[in-house]
Amino acid sequence: MENLDRAHLDGLVAQELQDYQERHPRSRELHENARHLFARVPMTWMNKWPGGFPLGFSSAHGALVTDLDGHELVDFALGDTGAFAGHSPPALVRAVRERIEHDGGVTTMMPTEDAEWVAAELSRRFGLAKWSFSLSATDANRWLLRLVRLATGRPKILVFSYSYHGSVDETFVVLGEDGRAHSRAGNVAPAVDPASTTRVVEFNDLEGLARELRHGDVAAVLSEPALTNIGIVLAQPGFLEGVRELCDETGTLLILDETHTFSAGPGGATKRFGLRPDAITIGKSLGGGVACGAYGLSEQLAQRVRDAARSGADLVDVGGVGGTLAGNALSMAAMRAVLGEVLTDDAFGPMEELATMFGDDVRAAIESHELPWSVSQLGARVEYRFAHPAPLSGGASARSADAELEHYLHLYCINRGVMLTPFHNMALMCPATTLDQVRLHGEVFREALDRLAR
Ligand SMILES: Cc1ncc(COP(=O)(O)O)c(C=O)c1O
Repeated sequence: MENLDRAHLDGLVAQELQDYQERHPRSRELHENARHLFARVPMTWMNKWPGGFPLGFSSAHGALVTDLDGHELVDFALGDTGAFAGHSPPALVRAVRERIEHDGGVTTMMPTEDAEWVAAELSRRFGLAKWSFSLSATDANRWLLRLVRLATGRPKILVFSYSYHGSVDETFVVLGEDGRAHSRAGNVAPAVDPASTTRVVEFNDLEGLARELRHGDVAAVLSEPALTNIGIVLAQPGFLEGVRELCDETGTLLILDETHTFSAGPGGATKRFGLRPDAITIGKSLGGGVACGAYGLSEQLAQRVRDAARSGADLVDVGGVGGTLAGNALSMAAMRAVLGEVLTDDAFGPMEELATMFGDDVRAAIESHELPWSVSQLGARVEYRFAHPAPLSGGASARSADAELEHYLHLYCINRGVMLTPFHNMALMCPATTLDQVRLHGEVFREALDRLAR
């Protein structure tokens, strides 16, 4: 960000880092002593937390987590949506215990009654007829991309620049300044250049989309209804309807990834905005943290897949769609508990109200310091960005990133008992989030900006 006193910011970061390190000796020890973990953490992205080492995890209930040093934090990260249902909600605990302890058996190769219940509930919410399951949103996307290529006989997909759909090879493509598709910076040893599998345009650019789809080689557009992994980039009025029309005109399928935009309501952004995708992918939150994922197909697409598979595509064994543990009994029981008793139709209204209040606090602090920042909200999810007005595309949003400023704000919050998502300035409300917790963030955020302004 221009006009920011960088030397002053450096000083603030140094102070917060020192406080963080002094407050968290056991977390530091955990990291330093992890000699058998690659990069000292169970998953390399855990090193993305600010402070030089991640907080060690001890316990979590509702919207609160306790770190290894005994500090309780309000959790607005919620496992980057994996814990959107809150941590260990009683209905989930009951269902998991019943499945493992009482009924017995986690994975068997046999379907359970829960599976049809969950599929029916997803159909009711999202409007798609047929569902299948995975253990992650990544796999739901991967497998569905194969199915849409099979159904259409077309080789490519189209994504919006700076979108994220999990570690799916075809999606790591951004639009370069030269207007061409490029492998995203940092893409780890791709098997093929993803620019050869994928077309890319900026979000909210219908003209660009029309131009790319006219080639007639795109099986499906894969998009979130709003980008949520490069800040929240909301669709302009008419954009999503325009995407649908262009897909229809060019015989292209439309996949909506609702993994994060589920925050928009019980039927995600699809139901809220009356969207008409051919397929949906979703994961993370459905199982309350128990590994799960799902993809839904319209009746028509399901029939096209079945017809196309007659040519010999193997949908049952080693054709490249599916996983041994996918659809396992525990995963299905967890999803049933979460959809049936936690993230219910009635749960979303209060979560959205809290997200609005969170955004109001942030906006008020930003305005009082006349900072050129913006706040975007999608239901229970809210995020601020160092740009005003809010960016309309992934590229514009990427250009507004400020790693040092983000580092400062996240550290400042953690040192005062508030946790934001390390990859974003994102806050998510769960059914257990309270107004006091939201207000605490408001106070801490305002203080952080006061110090920034001196
Ligand atoms: C929109 C979206 N889709 C898919 C994924 C992949 O989820 P997972 O890493 O749980 O497979 C993510 C992860 O952040 C996501 O944000």
